[in-house]
Amino acid sequence: MSANDLFTPIRLGDLDLPHRIVMAPLTRMRADQDGVPGSLNAEYYSQRASAALIITEATAISVQGRGIPHMPEIHTPNQIKGWRSVVGAVHSKGGRIVLQIVHNGRASHRSYMPEGMGPVGPSAIAISGKGYMPDFTFADYEAPRELTTGEIGDIVRDFRRAALNGMDAGFDGIELHAANGYLLNQFLEDGSNRRTDAYGGSFENRARLLMEVIEAVKGAVGAGRLGVRLSPFGSAGGMSDSNPTELYKSVITDLNQHSLAYLHLIEARASGMARTDVMRGDALNNAKLFGHLFQGPVISAGGYTPESANHAILSGDADAIAFGRFFIANPDLVRRIRSHAPLNQYDRSTFYGGSGRGYTDYPTLA
Ligand SMILES: Cc1cc2nc3c(=O)[nH]c(=O)nc-3n(C[C@H](O)[C@H](O)[C@H](O)COP(=O)(O)O)c2cc1C
Repeated sequence: MSANDLFTPIRLGDLDLPHRIVMAPLTRMRADQDGVPGSLNAEYYSQRASAALIITEATAISVQGRGIPHMPEIHTPNQIKGWRSVVGAVHSKGGRIVLQIVHNGRASHRSYMPEGMGPVGPSAIAISGKGYMPDFTFADYEAPRELTTGEIGDIVRDFRRAALNGMDAGFDGIELHAANGYLLNQFLEDGSNRRTDAYGGSFENRARLLMEVIEAVKGAVGAGRLGVRLSPFGSAGGMSDSNPTELYKSVITDLNQHSLAYLHLIEARASGMARTDVMRGDALNNAKLFGHLFQGPVISAGGYTPESANHAILSGDADAIAFGRFFIANPDLVRRIRSHAPLNQYDRSTFYGGSGRGYTDYPTLA
């Protein structure tokens, strides 16, 4: 029986954390229209520097990888410079921050891209439903264009370049977003991947792109500074798989060959939390089901309260817990949990886009 709790220090790869309360990656759509983070973003992140680790919002690796209005990106000098000021603000308050990098794949629209480009994916299968347009209105998703193997190689290089840019900006590490229905996740699951080449079919083939990206990014930043986020049984982004238990057992076991800093698992009960507060009642416990297959530290996220988070650490199901919505509303979440203080309620209407309202103006304890 482990004697650790939320306030026991822990090491994730090369990262020493003073406790185990992590800030989950949270898209807030407040970068400028060129994907450059600014002083408002620096203020927001630095207000939350007492987190054991901050994981940034999903950040696009390329123009093709975009798909959310005012999402930050990391492929131009200005974007790197903007992120450097965010990282500097967090470090000056003693915090640690890793960059979550993403290619949106089919979860995008041609209106985010220059003339002649459009969304791409493993197969030409559209997400059913509507997604954000660059002007914050909604429109039907379109079927992505199926990627050629040559283009897949370009995407691996884009991930590596983005990771190098992140290290150039001073980040403490990189998290690969392979969850919630974005490109790496789209390749993993057979609801979105019907390929018949080396990137489709068997579990191993569907995980090939993820493993190639890990290999490339690891070579650039070191395995001790690289984490991977997965969302088994997740439904966000129209995801589905015919055999998710065996798929994710296989993928997570294969991750062991890379000696990653951590594995970050989202609980399926919280799938879609970006859009709703309703938890899925029938969901299996991913940390319990898959965590023990991974030989390194596991961060678990999704629907935790301070009490259930502490219990997950005490019982050994997870090594650290990431909080999303509570970190939006409580810049001093760590202090509040430590002192059993009440938590501010989050305002869903200000999650996405806008100004400092609902972003940098949540009160801290006196
Ligand atoms: C506003 C909002 C934005 C989110 N953006 C991201 C994101 O950029 N990347 C990601 O991996 N997950 C994202 N998520 C999912 C969260 O990281 C987290 O898994 C989810 O909110 C469940 O945790 P919670 O119950 O503590 O909020 C987002 C969730 C919310 C509410």
